[in-house]
Amino acid sequence: DLDDLRGLKRGTLRLGVVTTAKYFIPHLLGDFCERHPLIEIDFKVGNRQQMIDRLSQGQDDLYVFSHPPEDAPLTLHPFLDNPLVAIAASDHPWASRRRLTLKEFAQAPFLIREQGSGTRYALEKFLKRRGIKLNVRMTVESNEAIRHSVMSGLGVSILSRHTLAFGADTGLTILPVEGLPIPSQWSLAYHKGHPLSPVARTFLQWAEQGSPAQPGRDGPRSDTE
Ligand code: PGA
Repeated sequence: DLDDLRGLKRGTLRLGVVTTAKYFIPHLLGDFCERHPLIEIDFKVGNRQQMIDRLSQGQDDLYVFSHPPEDAPLTLHPFLDNPLVAIAASDHPWASRRRLTLKEFAQAPFLIREQGSGTRYALEKFLKRRGIKLNVRMTVESNEAIRHSVMSGLGVSILSRHTLAFGADTGLTILPVEGLPIPSQWSLAYHKGHPLSPVARTFLQWAEQGSPAQPGRDGPRSDTE
């Protein structure tokens, strides 16, 4: 038809992203959809384990992981840093400290993401290597609920910097804990055994070239900029 003649791609792009990426990826989609008005997007969000489960069932075209499963045959396209930072309420006694040891920090009541979270996975790996144990007060299944709990003074946490809405979030501060941030990086990932649909290929190429859209936040920027 006419749309095909114009070279417009039609179909559904099925994206599955871990929760740390749900703030950033939508900023890429605006421009993409403007350029490809016939592509519809099915956007799923979950923790690392939920995305691994979806991947193993072939439910989506493309995934965004920080810690891709090690045993799956994946093609990975790393695209942006996802540093994990230590946070506290801005009126916390530590907010004015110039430096904190990891040992000191680990004594504070800690709010940790649920089992299956990639944030938790990275954090546990980091602490294990250093022989540090946390003082866990609360397990919370949401970055937002952790942010608000930290603001209310329930404890401290370590979250992706991308989960923090700077500008809007005046109640939080990043603590200068030694050895932090914990580095990680988002990758677009897909199963080697499942050929990409034309629509998914279009998105991947577009994302690889560096999209014109950059979100209006203080987070780290794409190295393709
Ligand atoms: P998650 O996000 O903590 O929601 O699993 C993970 C990640 O960035 O690996």
